[in-house]
Amino acid sequence: MSGKRILLIVGGGIAAYKACELIRLIRKAGMAVRCVLTDGGSQFITPMTLAALSEQPVHTSLWDLKNEAEMGHIRLSREADLVVVCPATADLMAKMANGISDSLATTLLLATDKPVMAVPAMNVRMWQHAATQRNVQRLRDDGVIVLDPDQGAMACGEYGPGRLPEPEAIMRAILAQFDGGHAAAAPRADLPLAGRHVLVTAGPTHEPIDPVRYIANRSSGKQGYAIAGALAMLGARVTLVSGPVTLSTPVGVTRVDVESAREMAAAVDAALPADAAVMVAAVADWRTDSAAATKIKKTGDGVPPTLSLAENPDILATLCRSDKRPGLVIGFAAETNDVIAHAEAKRLRKGPDWIIANDVSGDVMGGDRNSVHIVTAAGVESWDDQPKDVVAMKIAERIAAALAS
Ligand code: C5P
Repeated sequence: MSGKRILLIVGGGIAAYKACELIRLIRKAGMAVRCVLTDGGSQFITPMTLAALSEQPVHTSLWDLKNEAEMGHIRLSREADLVVVCPATADLMAKMANGISDSLATTLLLATDKPVMAVPAMNVRMWQHAATQRNVQRLRDDGVIVLDPDQGAMACGEYGPGRLPEPEAIMRAILAQFDGGHAAAAPRADLPLAGRHVLVTAGPTHEPIDPVRYIANRSSGKQGYAIAGALAMLGARVTLVSGPVTLSTPVGVTRVDVESAREMAAAVDAALPADAAVMVAAVADWRTDSAAATKIKKTGDGVPPTLSLAENPDILATLCRSDKRPGLVIGFAAETNDVIAHAEAKRLRKGPDWIIANDVSGDVMGGDRNSVHIVTAAGVESWDDQPKDVVAMKIAERIAAALAS
């Protein structure tokens, strides 16, 4: 991954400020980034900002002869390994779809022989307009990677699809472009978690009742997967022990699929030793004490079968007591009331160093945002509601800092 070069074209939209955070993440992943700012983009951020963050000259005009003498626009369009347009406005995408080259940005996009990724951001009606959808389809048919915008409240006060995806999500899409993502697994000595092995559990467990039915907790796996991806981005070797979910494996992460709590416990044990463990999985507390070998049939007399339950092993508590306990163990707590008090009690009872507690009385489960409290021996830190990708990166950075100290 180190040494890959991104040409970042920053279009004109309020989301342009998020390109600054994207530059930070690209550089953190060991890649170089050179920026092109459109006239529209320069209404929102300055070339100086992009130059300072990228530590590279910023290009704005096709008619900048000095730059033409130093580096022609054809070379600029070919020197990168990937061209990223972020934010990609409706106007920029319309021009791209029609081969219009009336500015430095659009000329580079027409001249490049490298893969192009567009990250759209615009008002919901503009995104949904037939013309934009037609342009997006044409770009995809032409081989341009067009990310789907996020859904939510927009700067213009409307609600719906059109928000720029979070920089962490864009970064994962960028990483996935290189070498099928495998390059990210190559150890990078200068990354903060280089040389560290981190174990993550995520998703629900399924406890069979019979061959077609099971007991489970509600869990999409999104937060755990985002944490695994963020840890890998910071250079860790990550083993992700995952219950059944419909998510794709984050770039650079080794995934071990399990179904039940007992399988998860065995996979966790097999993955040790680790420098840190982040137990995000929503493990079912109980299983049937013996699953039926064949499908349980309705009797017809209206009397339901009786399920006899057995308690599952507590994977987190077992890990904390084990002589293979990682130096840093983090548990999660999903609570609907008295969140912090329950989390602190859980920390003392099960023995992790931190409990990351979230209030699941709203729509956290399956959603894309999370508001968490970090409960440690030193006290409680509460983070504002933010996207799960952002929570994940902040947790990964905190883990890196804790392991370094
Ligand atoms: O008790 P509760 O399920 O709320 O505890 C949550 C924490 O414990 C999470 O970190 C979860 O992954 C872990 N856990 C576990 N094994 C269980 C139950 C919970 O590892 N059987």
